[in-house]
Amino acid sequence: MKMKQTVTALMLALSSSVVLAGEVEVLHWWTSGGEAKSVSVLKGLMEEQGNSWKDFAIAGGGGESAMTVLKTRAVSGNPPSAAQIKGHDIQEWGKLGFLTDLSDVARAENWDSVLPEVATQTMKYEGDYVAVPVNVHRVNWLWVNPEVLKKSGAKVPTTLDEFFAAADKIKAAGFIPLAHGGQTWQDVTLFEAVALAVLGPEDYQKAFVDLDIDVLSGRKMTEVFVQFRRMRDYIDPNSRGRDWYSTTSMVIDGEAAMQIMGDWAKGEFAAAGKVPGKDYLCVAAPGTHGQFTYNIDSFAFFKLSDEANRQAQKDLAKTILDKDFQEIFNLNKGSIPVRLDMDMSKFDQCALDSMATFKATSKSGGLVPSVSQGLATTSYVQGAIFDVVSNFFHAKSPDPEKAASKLARAVKSAM
Ligand code: GAL
Repeated sequence: MKMKQTVTALMLALSSSVVLAGEVEVLHWWTSGGEAKSVSVLKGLMEEQGNSWKDFAIAGGGGESAMTVLKTRAVSGNPPSAAQIKGHDIQEWGKLGFLTDLSDVARAENWDSVLPEVATQTMKYEGDYVAVPVNVHRVNWLWVNPEVLKKSGAKVPTTLDEFFAAADKIKAAGFIPLAHGGQTWQDVTLFEAVALAVLGPEDYQKAFVDLDIDVLSGRKMTEVFVQFRRMRDYIDPNSRGRDWYSTTSMVIDGEAAMQIMGDWAKGEFAAAGKVPGKDYLCVAAPGTHGQFTYNIDSFAFFKLSDEANRQAQKDLAKTILDKDFQEIFNLNKGSIPVRLDMDMSKFDQCALDSMATFKATSKSGGLVPSVSQGLATTSYVQGAIFDVVSNFFHAKSPDPEKAASKLARAVKSAM
């Protein structure tokens, strides 16, 4: 009798967990060492809550391939529960009617008061949350191997002039000065760092957010292209097409001295067991000290019909902004938590600098959205910028002045 009761109780428990447990299928492009480690934290927490996790990973930094696959899935009426969608793209998916309203979770969890304004603005479509931010990445970083600098007799550069002076010494000493992966989004990552240094945050904003044609085609933009092109003299011949993380490894291994890349690169240094301040240095990209180019990773949530899966979606939305998750995830990812009310005691100096600069620039200016990461403008304009910048960088005999007017024309026709 007792045995029978136990079995019945067990079956009841199982059937209720079957009813409650749902599945989340999550599309992302986090496949490098540091990234995979970070996303597995989210998977683990979802499974702890009884939900199952269906991984939908599409490799490719910057997410271009992931977005192509997502479009096919969504158009055929079979979207995942959530997808890594950022910036202006969230509005575009919202407009198409694909995204679900997360307002009830947002209200219960007080998202409006714990998140910075740049995040809440981006996550809402027509006033309702349809996406959840995971982190804040700073993009304008220079990653440095101090050993290589020392062997070359170079010092850590803080301006573009100092950068080129250091790069000459490093080259003469037989190292690769700048580790660069020649994929379009990485070309634009380098370009936007140079643009911020040459233009300053106000003109950067005018050019890439307000799409001011005079600034886009102006004299300072020509200078941006001049300085950007100079970078080519300091990269290795195998750069074309290389992934960002293999490129970071060149700095980790001491083959190259520096890389200009967002702080997902720190996730690679961390995964390789490297210590900031000792094995590697993080400093602002040359000429951008006290400025902050932001990239906010986020998941947008799709409309689903299955009730259990809808509940699992809510669990996922809530978990992403849970303080424990924010801590572990961002420690692995190299970014800083997107919640402003976090205890930062476990974070390293790079993250502390990032948080301090993020908070200061939010108040006093100097906080600008990343073009390469889709935070500054629509995907159409972004595509136009990507083409002009990357073609210029790889051209045999590029003309900076012509490039600036080409940029203005391309942006205008994509607006
Ligand atoms: C970005 C993404 C980052 C990082 C990077 C390289 O688009 O926002 O989180 O993972 O790609 O894959």
